[in-house]
Amino acid sequence: MKKIIIAIDGPAGSGKTTTAKQLAEKLNYIYIDTGAMYRAVTLAWLNSRTELTDVSIQKILNTINIELKPSANGQITLLDGIDVSEKIRLSDVNKFVSPVSANENVRQHLVQMQRQLGVKKCCVMDGRDIGTIVFPDAELKIFLTASIGIRAKRRFLEEQQKGITDLSFDEIAEQIIERDKYDSSREISPLRKAEDAIEIDTSDLTLEQQIETIYQLSIKTINS
Ligand code: CDP
Repeated sequence: MKKIIIAIDGPAGSGKTTTAKQLAEKLNYIYIDTGAMYRAVTLAWLNSRTELTDVSIQKILNTINIELKPSANGQITLLDGIDVSEKIRLSDVNKFVSPVSANENVRQHLVQMQRQLGVKKCCVMDGRDIGTIVFPDAELKIFLTASIGIRAKRRFLEEQQKGITDLSFDEIAEQIIERDKYDSSREISPLRKAEDAIEIDTSDLTLEQQIETIYQLSIKTINS
């Protein structure tokens, strides 16, 4: 059976993480949440209380240790050995993750890590630039989209459920719009659909339908 890399890119709240996690489980593939890596660097930078400069960021990158470990509900993120899976979803990180992710040193460092993590293939990786920069030769590339209303609703419900926000629906929608704008317009590795990616609009799909659609595409690619 062919071993493949499945790249799933798309804007905030398009369902990448949930889809990628469950798809990897169905295929018995490893799952790599690259957003969690950018979030962990952002948390480390926030903890350092330094200005966001190339020098300060490089210093942080030289000393931190980020690990993604499989767990019962998908994956946990460790920063210097400490489980930060919940902390990296908090509002402060949401606010600063796009500017930190636009930094060239950060991107170089994390892209190199991601390429290493995927070197054995059999992996589902989700993010913004997986199909364009990290693995431009990925055997299957998916670009997930959904209307802004739907994406904001999903994120609002998710954050309410986890009890990690006191932001209103409108504030969450605004945050998402701003992050999308930042991610799509940055100079290095902007969020965009790879030419050979399959675009799937999930606005009217249930989670099950969305996973099944990508699962079928994966099986077809694996058997091709
Ligand atoms: O889950 P959500 O779509 O809200 O975000 P995420 O996948 O956790 O990514 C958080 C942020 O990290 C994004 O808004 C990007 O700024 C950055 N990111 C990136 O630049 N490149 C990636 N491959 C993944 C995330």
